[in-house]
Amino acid sequence: MSDHHLVVVNVNGMDYHRTVEARLLLSDFLRHELNLTGTHVGCEHGVCGACTVLFDGQPVRSCLMFAVQADGHEIMTVEGLGTPEKLHPIQEAFWEAHGAQCGFCTPGILMTLVPFLESNPDPDEDEIRHAISGNLCRCTGYQHIVDSVKLAAEKMST
Ligand code: FES
Ligand code: FES
Repeated sequence: MSDHHLVVVNVNGMDYHRTVEARLLLSDFLRHELNLTGTHVGCEHGVCGACTVLFDGQPVRSCLMFAVQADGHEIMTVEGLGTPEKLHPIQEAFWEAHGAQCGFCTPGILMTLVPFLESNPDPDEDEIRHAISGNLCRCTGYQHIVDSVKLAAEKMST
């Protein structure tokens, strides 16, 4: 019996039809099948949060899911957030408040923040730190990230 399956996944508003191995991780599907390499892969076991994408609007760790589980679902990756010409307000804030250094953790943090800021438009610092507690950053010491989230909240509320 073949372990290949046809999946139809909507990613950033476009439907993709692909035949994939049952064992293919969603993170590898996005990066290698769709060339959406903005989704980063760090630990590959659910710890670092670098691979976070939105799955039907909710943040998930794409290294902990198989591509076949995304069949019939909507995924949003960092590529769907904004463009270099028109950044999303959260991206603008990270740019202006220096929320990224090497940038490896940044896509996962941005995708974690989208639903967080939509449901909590005026978070305090504790809430921000709690929201990003599942996203590890080896560069920033987190203060610039927290400052960026505060700026993002301001931008999104105006
Ligand atoms: S690569 Fe998925 S959580 Fe680290
Ligand atoms: S900016 Fe380098 S890991 Fe976070």
